[in-house]
Amino acid sequence: MRRPLVAGNWKLNGSRAANGALLRALVSGCRDDAGREIVVCPPFVYLPDAAALLGGSTIGLGAQDAAAESAGAFTGEISAAMLADVGCRYVIVGHSERRALYGECDDMVARKFAAVLAAGLVPILCVGETLEERERDQTEAVVERQLRAVLGRVAASAWQGAVVAYEPVWAIGTGRTATPQQAQAVHAFIRGQFATLDARMAGQLRILYGGSVKGANAAALFGMPDIDGGLVGGASLDAQDFILICDAASGSAT
Ligand code: 13P
Repeated sequence: MRRPLVAGNWKLNGSRAANGALLRALVSGCRDDAGREIVVCPPFVYLPDAAALLGGSTIGLGAQDAAAESAGAFTGEISAAMLADVGCRYVIVGHSERRALYGECDDMVARKFAAVLAAGLVPILCVGETLEERERDQTEAVVERQLRAVLGRVAASAWQGAVVAYEPVWAIGTGRTATPQQAQAVHAFIRGQFATLDARMAGQLRILYGGSVKGANAAALFGMPDIDGGLVGGASLDAQDFILICDAASGSAT
């Protein structure tokens, strides 16, 4: 049985005032439900404030990225150990925006994934194809390449609770969600990739869908057998919509 997870990726949004209002609304508005997990991923500078605001609640804290290195002369970087130190438990790794806009290659993503695990945190590894790749029928090849790069560095048996997020690039921030059937097909493919390596781990691996998840479409997506929750961008900034999405994850455990 996999416990559904809904993670909010705030991206480059927020302010002290807005974050305080949003987190207070989530803490009071999210039903207590041990059957699913909720995580928010604010920008780095707000993590300590968010940790304080979430203290005592069941909502977890995550970061949007981490350095591949653990310490040293890497100006501007933030290590996974630092993220653990300020109360994070999750770290998003390899988001398509980082791959496309900041030049993160598969190998860099793999190194970051390993660094997050080494710090005792849970990586949320993002994979997904562009529209052009989908139209050329390359979705599975792209996702497989992205997974293999990480598996080449960290064996499946060492993934210890790690999470994969399937985020088709063409569905991110576009309002164009993958249909539940389209998403399910890729989630099943991802689980199948792991099943060939470690069947037990594959059965336990949580695979989230990301890309224009809203309160209105979450239940249909989360109802699919291999979709274990969502990685939510825009709608995670709206307390009401995010709570609806979290509610949709309640009871969708498989
Ligand atoms: P949207 O929910 O805004 O489409 O963003 C998805 C995403 O990139 C989450 O990481």
